[in-house]
Amino acid sequence: MRAVAVFPAQRQVRLVEHPEPAVVSPTEVKLRMLEVGVCGTDREIVTFQYGTPPAGAEYLVIGHESLGEAVEVGASVTRVRPGDLVVPMVRRPCPDPTCAPCRAGRQDFCASGAFTERGISGAHGFMTEFVVDDEKYMNAVPAALRGVAVLTEPLTIAEKAVAEVWKVQQRLPWTRPARAGQPHSRGQHAVVLGAGPVGLLGALLLVNAGFETTVYSRASGPHDKAGLARSFGAKYVAAESVTTRQLAEQVGNIDLVYEATGASRVAFEMLAALGTNGVFVFTGVPGRKGPVEVDTDLIMRNLVLENQIVFGTVNANRDAYEAAIRHLGTFAARWPQALHRLITSRSPLGDAPGLLTSEPTGIKNVITIS
Ligand code: BGC
Ligand code: ZN
Repeated sequence: MRAVAVFPAQRQVRLVEHPEPAVVSPTEVKLRMLEVGVCGTDREIVTFQYGTPPAGAEYLVIGHESLGEAVEVGASVTRVRPGDLVVPMVRRPCPDPTCAPCRAGRQDFCASGAFTERGISGAHGFMTEFVVDDEKYMNAVPAALRGVAVLTEPLTIAEKAVAEVWKVQQRLPWTRPARAGQPHSRGQHAVVLGAGPVGLLGALLLVNAGFETTVYSRASGPHDKAGLARSFGAKYVAAESVTTRQLAEQVGNIDLVYEATGASRVAFEMLAALGTNGVFVFTGVPGRKGPVEVDTDLIMRNLVLENQIVFGTVNANRDAYEAAIRHLGTFAARWPQALHRLITSRSPLGDAPGLLTSEPTGIKNVITIS
């Protein structure tokens, strides 16, 4: 079968013939892959800054944001039936018997670092015709979400982040998640840094949770990201014309910053503008470009004197997948166009190497497999 693979030693990315996998255990499911999204992580992998083939393999089949259709299920599979749409999870637990997170099914918190990630690190990914994996890594998706379910995995990043924000903010018992569509009693303000797919999906989630949400981003380009953000009730502020300090004056007390740019300088400037009792969440993984100057005294004073919290988050657990699938349905009902506008191109598998190695354009680019 065809697959898109990266060969780190030869510094190549190309279409390969890859052996078709088969169901060999009663708990496995075989998927025909329908769509795979392309993200910044994939672009880092095809420029050989990140990503590792499976042990002993010369190449890595890439792709981790995916949607497939179950075509065969092992005898004891209960979570999926043939014909179901399925989004597989990305990370697989490490083998270390002393790794408490992995042994508890929370490999997104793996403590040994020996986890694998399909399409990223030590395990082949989903940009191929068929995939087999254990049903415990599969999430069934309603058929009505066929056109947007490829956005599930990037949305899980925001789901995990926001779930953790609520856990952290239990320290403030008067601050609670709003009921769907209802604003918070005190009007909680969120700022989203970046208007890529992770940022815009995070903004959708925060607007839906009742936050007054502002997307702060660089030039919006030919795809009207500002218009898209406004279409679902977020504000959009251009980073070129408004400083982070001015932004804080416009917004009011910034209760939450959801960072989704991977740009550390603007992120730390924004951290200095975080509000009282606020939480700052990092999701971006910047390339290492050398130190930048930040006002550490100001940031440290604010952290202490304003009870602030900063945390980073990577990957996502099953709860986050289930929440993401549920919320895609909510978003599709509340803002029917927004999710479709996030997907700005669909290209066939054969175009993937070219797309991955050329300048990124649009918001979410998707590879259509079948
Ligand atoms: C993926 C995550 C993964 C992370 C680090 C992201 O692009 O969405 O699932 O954990 O990269 O490899
Ligand atoms: Zn990704």
